[in-house]
Amino acid sequence: MVAGNYRNTVAIVDKDAIRWNIVQEKKRLTDEALLYAVVKADGYGHGAVEVAKAAKEAGVDGFCVALLDEAVELREAEINESILILGVVDPLYADVIVEKQLSVTIGRLDWIEKAEGLLRQKSITGSVAVHIALDTGMGRIGFRTEEEVKKCEQQIHKSEHFFLEGVFTHFATADSDDDTLFLQQQERFNCLIKSFDNIPEIVHTANSATTLFHPNNSSKLIRFGIAMYGLNPSGNLMTPPYQLKPALQLKSELIHVKQMNQGDVISYGATYQAEEGEWIGTLPIGYADGWLRKLQGQEVLVNGSRCEIVGRICMDQCMVRLPGNIPVGTEVVLIGKSGQEEITLQEIADKLDTIHYEVACGITPRVKRRYVH
Ligand SMILES: Cc1ncc(COP(=O)(O)O)c(C=O)c1O
Repeated sequence: MVAGNYRNTVAIVDKDAIRWNIVQEKKRLTDEALLYAVVKADGYGHGAVEVAKAAKEAGVDGFCVALLDEAVELREAEINESILILGVVDPLYADVIVEKQLSVTIGRLDWIEKAEGLLRQKSITGSVAVHIALDTGMGRIGFRTEEEVKKCEQQIHKSEHFFLEGVFTHFATADSDDDTLFLQQQERFNCLIKSFDNIPEIVHTANSATTLFHPNNSSKLIRFGIAMYGLNPSGNLMTPPYQLKPALQLKSELIHVKQMNQGDVISYGATYQAEEGEWIGTLPIGYADGWLRKLQGQEVLVNGSRCEIVGRICMDQCMVRLPGNIPVGTEVVLIGKSGQEEITLQEIADKLDTIHYEVACGITPRVKRRYVH
């Protein structure tokens, strides 16, 4: 998909905000702790390579991604720090993992054997770090029993190409104010860890919510995702220990403005009828940009005033009711600040009945990204 470089709809990413959020987090950590920037899903829609560069400047120790392709993209952009792939990679691609010097997650007993077989077949030498995933209650990936953990440790111990660097788990409810399941998962993790003959050097459990809301966690490595982008992992439920600065704004402009007659309708399905003399503006953004049809009725900011999106959102455009005859070319803020007003990603997520993670990831590549300092 091409980006709309010749269109004034843009997602603006503030690299200073990303650096600020990292620096605040680093201040709370001990010197031994490792801070890894999570830049999967194209940096939660912010742009993985540019976010990684900003994170590197702010002093992160490494990166986490979900896909092998995302790790390769970082390597091709000369990100040479440690990269841990959190998702399951097919052992068929073990040669790429070794060639690019990536750390992988192991959560199945057949993985090492298959990957080793392939590397031997291709006469590939060299070794990379692996992290064992433990499923302590998330129910997604990872080993669930002591026996599996023991077997996996032995397999890695015998391996020519893989060495055991870490072990981790992921909490399902670290962003909740009820810590019942969180504590159960922590206890299960502590039990499973005891099955190792030699506990790996990097034992980690913390995502953003864990580090922000469970300060007594003993995670050696922080997988810092949503908070790095300046968003509160709990929505508005809990207050982070420092101010998070949101990095993303979404802006467009009025490309057409007109005055309506009583009863004139707007957009597909004619769901909106104008009042006499009402001013309607058109914006060059629609559901193909991630500005979904469910956002009908959501407000945008024009010169610091809230204006409602009226009529159905089209694939490439949508219409707003204006307070008057506002010139074509006027900036419209869909996410971000204008005057005294602000529309947050959380507000959009609430309107869509979802979480801000999904909104940020959902802004499609057709919206160009611009990076500011
Ligand atoms: C295993 C794992 N660790 C860390 C993260 C980062 O989480 P967050 O963005 O909430 O910090 C994720 C994100 O989904 C993840 O899957």
